[in-house]
Amino acid sequence: MSRRLGIGLIGLGEIAYKSTGGVLLRTPNVTMVAGMDPLPEIAASYEARFKIPCSTSLDDVLKNPEVDAVVISTPHDLHVPLGIRAAQTGKHVIVEKPMATTLDDADDLIAACQEAGVKLSSKEGGVRYQPATARAKRLLDAGVIGDVMATQVFGAANKPESYWSGGYSGRVRTTWRRSKAESGGGILIMNYIYDIYRLRYITGLEVARVFAEYDTYRTPVEVEDFIAVTLRYTNGAIGTFMASSCAPGAAKSGIRGTRAAGNRIFGTAGQIVFEDGDLLVYTEIGGDGLESGSWNQLSFSQDFGDDTYVTYFERFAEAVLEDRQPDIPGEEGRRNLEIFLAAYHSGETHEPVTLSE
Ligand SMILES: NC(=O)c1ccc[n+]([C@@H]2O[C@H](COP(=O)([O-])OP(=O)(O)OC[C@H]3O[C@@H](n4cnc5c(N)ncnc54)[C@H](O)[C@@H]3O)[C@@H](O)[C@H]2O)c1
Repeated sequence: MSRRLGIGLIGLGEIAYKSTGGVLLRTPNVTMVAGMDPLPEIAASYEARFKIPCSTSLDDVLKNPEVDAVVISTPHDLHVPLGIRAAQTGKHVIVEKPMATTLDDADDLIAACQEAGVKLSSKEGGVRYQPATARAKRLLDAGVIGDVMATQVFGAANKPESYWSGGYSGRVRTTWRRSKAESGGGILIMNYIYDIYRLRYITGLEVARVFAEYDTYRTPVEVEDFIAVTLRYTNGAIGTFMASSCAPGAAKSGIRGTRAAGNRIFGTAGQIVFEDGDLLVYTEIGGDGLESGSWNQLSFSQDFGDDTYVTYFERFAEAVLEDRQPDIPGEEGRRNLEIFLAAYHSGETHEPVTLSE
């Protein structure tokens, strides 16, 4: 394919600077064309590092005919209004996760992109290109662990106070991460939307019902710093999330104090565990090169990260250039969001929430 997709960047803060810019430079079928950020020093430093024109004007990106698609990396409540503006000027839209902070907003963005005939994708979907995720899906599809009975997501961070006023890098001084209205929520929506998409993608299951309890224990912010979520899937399987941003010692555990356990899928004939970038697989029946009746450790040279996103952008560009549906269309981002918004609603009402079919 000879043509490259021209990319404009909207929002040039932490993720755009530390990850997306470098990823786009390495993606074979895209070209970074221009960027914008309302903060002049942020625009200037981006231009200096990535050698593309950057300004404080949205029009400089949206009116640039060489920009085919935009990547929106802003506070969460701005994804939709900016995405709609971009769609209305004929630009394809990639939004950082989560795609919106309300379902109405998500619907508006999906509708605006449909009306304008442009493609839409929510960037958490990139997790499906992580080799461990892809392999886990293959194992599940091959029946190696049988039918899914349960899923478990555990994660614990201990975010420093500085995170809440500037992320991990301090590149942009800002308070949006503390604000429920601007972020949509805390640790769950900020960090675990990848995990719900990973589980939906690997298992092919949809969530039918959600119950949650959450609170803010150790952080002076509006959003939750600890949450426990219970899920019931449409096939009858159950699941949990336990996530924190304020756990002293974070997620390390185990005899040597080195293990960070992540996602776990329990099947009727085995288990798949994501742990420290490896997959641990127990299978009673074997298959796909695995030994039955014991734990198999599968290691991958590439973990979830920038390499994964090279594939994400490459596949999105292919979808645009070949005029087909992206692998992770806006509807997937909406579904991930719906589950987490249901968890927040449940946490407020102390009632389970049943999701739409
Ligand atoms: N930081 C990370 O490690 C990380 C990782 C994955 C995804 N993300 C996601 O990326 C998005 C941005 O997060 P971040 O950490 O880069 O935040 P950030 O605060 O560092 O950057 C956001 C940028 O958006 C800009 N902005 C504000 N209003 C704008 C507007 N109207 N138009 C254009 N730009 C505007 C800000 O000036 C700022 O430079 C979020 O959706 C976040 O969840 C972040």
